[in-house]
Amino acid sequence: MDAVDIPVIAAGGIYDGRGLVAALALGAQGVQMGTRFMCATECTIHSNVKEILIKAKDRDTIVTGRTTGHPVRIIRNKLARQFEERERQGALWKNWRSLEWDD
Ligand SMILES: Cc1cc2nc3c(=O)[nH]c(=O)nc-3n(C[C@H](O)[C@H](O)[C@H](O)COP(=O)(O)O)c2cc1C
Repeated sequence: MDAVDIPVIAAGGIYDGRGLVAALALGAQGVQMGTRFMCATECTIHSNVKEILIKAKDRDTIVTGRTTGHPVRIIRNKLARQFEERERQGALWKNWRSLEWDD
């Protein structure tokens, strides 16, 4: 916050009032929350996904996409492991849609 003269909106990993207060204490003007609202009643994602998110622990996720410049933290599941492996093998982002994926 001290490095810039513009308002800073904190984002990433904030999911409750404590996170909000911590960000404000550090000097943020506000926060942007994403994942937490995926579990809101108003969010139309499948209830199974909400259940998985609520039950997930910190070690249940991995970060994919670092090689693309767009890292994304996702639940560690079968697809995530395949994705991780393809990325390790050097698959190019522009070709990923044409790759074969296991069910
Ligand atoms: C379902 C979902 C979709 C998102 N889509 C985008 C997007 O299209 N572009 C973008 O810049 N950020 C997107 N975000 C990131 C959010 O705007 C926000 O910065 C981020 O989720 C904050 O971290 P948090 O999920 O830990 O709260 C998305 C987040 C979620 C959860």
